[in-house]
Amino acid sequence: MKIPQPFQYQGSKRSLAPLILQYLPVSTTRLVEPFCGSAALSIATAARGRAREFWLNDFNAPLAKLLALIVNSPKELGKHYRELWRADHADALEHYYQVRESFNRTQDEQLLLYLLARCVKGAVRYNGEGLFNQSPDKRRLGTQPETMQASLNAISALLRGKTIVTSLSYENVLANVRSDDVVYMDPPYQGVCGERDSRYFAGIAYDDFVAQLEGLNRKNIRFLVSYDGRLGNRSYGKPLPARLRLKLVEIEAGRSSQATLLGRDEMTVESLYLSPALADELEMVPTMRRHRPDEQLQLMENTVPYGKTKTPKRVS
Ligand SMILES: C[S@@+](CC[C@H](N)C(=O)[O-])C[C@H]1O[C@@H](n2cnc3c(N)ncnc32)[C@H](O)[C@@H]1O
Repeated sequence: MKIPQPFQYQGSKRSLAPLILQYLPVSTTRLVEPFCGSAALSIATAARGRAREFWLNDFNAPLAKLLALIVNSPKELGKHYRELWRADHADALEHYYQVRESFNRTQDEQLLLYLLARCVKGAVRYNGEGLFNQSPDKRRLGTQPETMQASLNAISALLRGKTIVTSLSYENVLANVRSDDVVYMDPPYQGVCGERDSRYFAGIAYDDFVAQLEGLNRKNIRFLVSYDGRLGNRSYGKPLPARLRLKLVEIEAGRSSQATLLGRDEMTVESLYLSPALADELEMVPTMRRHRPDEQLQLMENTVPYGKTKTPKRVS
């Protein structure tokens, strides 16, 4: 069985999670995700038994509430999804627009699950007023209720009793991390969309983000940041500054379909930055990793850690 996924999400790290996981300490007390989105890294980490506790946060409040329901009430949520999905069939498109209107009015997270499962390519879109405005997928019916229920149950089994979920701006999460936490940050991409990204509910400002990372370094916190990257030789996004003393790992994320269409053979490369406190702890940090499709994690595989580390240093 594959690692469960609650819903498709723009920018999900699901397929890169096995590689990113290699840069986590062998045993992590708590993994903190201030920009958790679909929580792909935490779910993969829990499936590997690589952390004991999790703190999931996303500024998008209905999304955070949805994650909390998945973790704590998967049966009730699955039942609600089943009823909504079945009601869909008389006039599927009209039904979707009604649910979308109702979600924008009520911000009910249970409706969001249906929208995420039914919208075009699972790609969320928000307008300038923060209203969900993605269209329905006219060719697919969305995840079958039975499949959805199985995913919700599996995720809950991995995270229940060890996870807190909040909806704060990321600075408020970083202000409250503990010295033994490991923080994984996957902020909205800068290079693609600047500070306003219609794919997400909110964005971040580069200078503020850099200042926050400096603050974490001062406290010797171990953190990882997925941050922009390059397509072929072209970089997108402003690199994080050298004064942060981050270790850059480049991950080959796959061939760009756009470039292939244009007859170019270009690889998308994503940047993963490791904080000095984390890089110090790892014995050997390969700086280029290839992502292979067969690296998808399997739920039943052994949970033996495969990150090579020195004896962990205590951080004060
Ligand atoms: C690139 S996505 C994260 C994807 C995630 N790693 C996954 O695997 O699904 C970035 C997330 O940051 C959230 N976000 C944007 N601005 C934020 C802020 N100021 N504080 C916290 N979260 C924020 C967005 O709602 C979005 O879900």
